[in-house]
Amino acid sequence: MKDKIRTLIIGSGGREYALARAIAASPNCAELFIHPHNDAITRYAKPLPPNNDIIQQAQKNNISLVVIGPEQPLVDGLADKFREANIPVFGPDANAARIEGSKITMKQLADKANIPTARWRAASTPAEAHSILNQYGAPVVIKTDGLAAGKGVTVARDRKTAEDAIHSAMTEKRFGNAGEHIILEETLDGEELSCFALLDGNGGVMPFASARDWKRASARPDSDNTGGMASLSPAPGITREEENEILARFIRPIDETLRREGSPFRGVLFAGLMRTREGLRLLEYNIRFGDPETQAILPRLESDLLELLRLCAAGSLNEAPAPRFSADLCFHLVLAARGYPREYQTDTVIKGLAALEKEREQTGDGEEVRITHAATRRDGGEWRAAGGRVLGLSARAPDLATARTRIRGALARLDWPEGFHREDLLRD
Ligand code: AMP
Ligand code: GLY
Repeated sequence: MKDKIRTLIIGSGGREYALARAIAASPNCAELFIHPHNDAITRYAKPLPPNNDIIQQAQKNNISLVVIGPEQPLVDGLADKFREANIPVFGPDANAARIEGSKITMKQLADKANIPTARWRAASTPAEAHSILNQYGAPVVIKTDGLAAGKGVTVARDRKTAEDAIHSAMTEKRFGNAGEHIILEETLDGEELSCFALLDGNGGVMPFASARDWKRASARPDSDNTGGMASLSPAPGITREEENEILARFIRPIDETLRREGSPFRGVLFAGLMRTREGLRLLEYNIRFGDPETQAILPRLESDLLELLRLCAAGSLNEAPAPRFSADLCFHLVLAARGYPREYQTDTVIKGLAALEKEREQTGDGEEVRITHAATRRDGGEWRAAGGRVLGLSARAPDLATARTRIRGALARLDWPEGFHREDLLRD
């Protein structure tokens, strides 16, 4: 019999909570660790004992698979370090991670691989940026080259907004080094959708799932961009033909290009796309599972997630059967601290949550609406908020109306005046 897997998850938000829940449920899971940890996630995963050296900790605990959730440690080369220590990792090396860590690298590789994206040019000085702005005019999209926690993109409807974005990134250095170089690109128009595929670095490519998220903080089109206030899987309107097209035009070519360049990608590739009048266009690649897309995808997964991640990390996806998903859709609603993504209060009590979770545990009713902790802490018998995006509710159902009704039912049990959600997304 094959050895059971001792897994370590890196990261501690809603996405990692959802991953921990799915991995802990696997028959192949021997033991699951998490770093860093929070109170809620310890239901599924053990905290690693404190020690500055995470590699040493992994070795000491005989970890046989590391799953890295967020982009920053991947871009910083954490996967490389585990691989150097011969510990299998689900997540790309720093070199391949540049397709998310540097927009310029992503665009250059996409051009090389003939992947359709918005027309673009890079600037390294404000003068250069203004000369490109003169050429492109408004509307235009300004993006910092480096990671800026989802805040480095400005869709500028007019010239003044574009000039402000250039000033803020390049002169005020609001995003530090991330804004040292920027790109200006043509504005695209259409519906957004995301597709996830597992890549094993050996040419093994396995389509995983599709989703969409809602990034704005409110229904107002000019409200702040957030990391995502809700998600839905599968992506609305997606067809088998479109899935095949995405695989052929946006996933396989970048996999091949990265392998040819000596930077094979091993992990999950998340392609952010737009359906424009001229056809599908790539907005961005992410090198990790989406947050909150994962919270809408995993409740639909009927196959063993851990086995898939293990085979992907081993470069052996050819041995994995295609993942099975429920025909149901899943809608996920984020509950955030009022004020997010700007300033918000923390440490407020989420009344009713502890009682609701206890009741579901007793009735075995955890499947209809899954509760995801993204940033909470336990305080005696209550839960308190400990971040911006605090909780999430995922409802799986045959249709969106039923999923929304189920989420409303759970929401009605919570009393958290310092929190908010996108109420408009619960209406038709
Ligand atoms: P990105 O991080 O590149 O995906 O950009 C974040 C968000 O900005 C996307 O989800 C889109 O809503 C928007 N966006 C990015 N690029 C463009 C573009 N070329 N045209 C219109 N909207 C864009
Ligand atoms: N929800 C968007 C992301 O994870 O990047």
